Amino acid sequence: MKILITGGAGFVGSHLADRLIKDGHEITVIDDLSTGRYSNIAHLEDTKSFRLIIDTVLNQELMEDLIRETDRVYHMASAVGVRLIMEQPVKTIETIFHGTDVILKFCSRYRKRVLIPSTSEVYGKGTSIPFSEDDDLLTGATDKHRWAYACAKTLDEFLALAHWKETRLHVVVVRLFNTVGPRQTGQYGMVVPRFVHAAMKNEPITVHGDGTQQRCFGHVSDVVEGLVKVLETPECFGQVVNLGNDEEVSILGLADKAITLTGSSSEIKFIPYEEAYGDGFEDMRRRVPNLAKAKRLVGYQPTRSLDDIINDVAAEFRNSVTA
Ligand SMILES: NC(=O)c1ccc[n+]([C@@H]2O[C@H](COP(=O)([O-])OP(=O)(O)OC[C@H]3O[C@@H](n4cnc5c(N)ncnc54)[C@H](O)[C@@H]3O)[C@@H](O)[C@H]2O)c1
Repeated sequence: MKILITGGAGFVGSHLADRLIKDGHEITVIDDLSTGRYSNIAHLEDTKSFRLIIDTVLNQELMEDLIRETDRVYHMASAVGVRLIMEQPVKTIETIFHGTDVILKFCSRYRKRVLIPSTSEVYGKGTSIPFSEDDDLLTGATDKHRWAYACAKTLDEFLALAHWKETRLHVVVVRLFNTVGPRQTGQYGMVVPRFVHAAMKNEPITVHGDGTQQRCFGHVSDVVEGLVKVLETPECFGQVVNLGNDEEVSILGLADKAITLTGSSSEIKFIPYEEAYGDGFEDMRRRVPNLAKAKRLVGYQPTRSLDDIINDVAAEFRNSVTA
């Protein structure tokens, strides 16, 4: 098949490209390299079945041409990362909402199957752990900029499901919970690479808040497997599906694990959220996915643990230093 991956030079998108090329598909990646990196897909450039286009998904003429000629679209392009969202809320909202609008419009016009990634952030301040796809969503006030990301993604979900309702567009919405692994950069506030890289350099590990907030981390290989399965399963069309890992760890526990597994002498430092992200930041205490729907629809079952994730991220960092 011909498959278009928007944001394919990014973290998840580049792993998806690897996986789909291995299956024998022809892959086109479009990426503006805003948070993605050429190095993530450099190894694919000599592959005949791979093509990279450096441009934005907001270029409607180009997107119409690319979508017309493809069989599947994975729309991974997005503004991501808490820091970016706090610093550039306008760009965040525009990229997420306009980008998805363009993709859905042309997928609908040319009847193309499409996956729209959403995020666990849409569950907001919800407290009914674990989070299920049909839960109410509870985000914060509009002057708390961090919620712009969640709300823009929620609007994406509404739009995707509206296309399904009105014209039966073959669309699947996936709510990704924290997804981590090699190639993710710590630059935009992603906690796992930030902690592991600091630990490996024996530098202080900075924990925001008191570190008792809990998170779940899914290995990118497990998540990519889930993405491919849901888009190939007609029962998933018009559905919202959680993907990730439901094993919980506190952020302080994560810092300890990063230190132990890398044999580091780093100390742990605590800083208030306001210092890290500015005024008006609100965090969520816990975020655990209910994976029952993914399991029922596609047999999704994460196979890699947090130790595997830390070891893989550490191995990549070690290789980059010795390369
Ligand atoms: N990684 C996670 O934990 C996580 C969690 C929840 C949701 N998601 C979602 O998964 C998707 C992929 O995220 P990721 O972690 O790989 O982030 P990423 O930043 O590595 O990937 C996003 C890619 O989109 C590209 N991009 C941004 N704006 C663009 C535009 N206008 N035109 C073309 N390309 C553009 C970036 O350059 C980047 O390569 C996003 O939709 C994100 O919201 C990820």
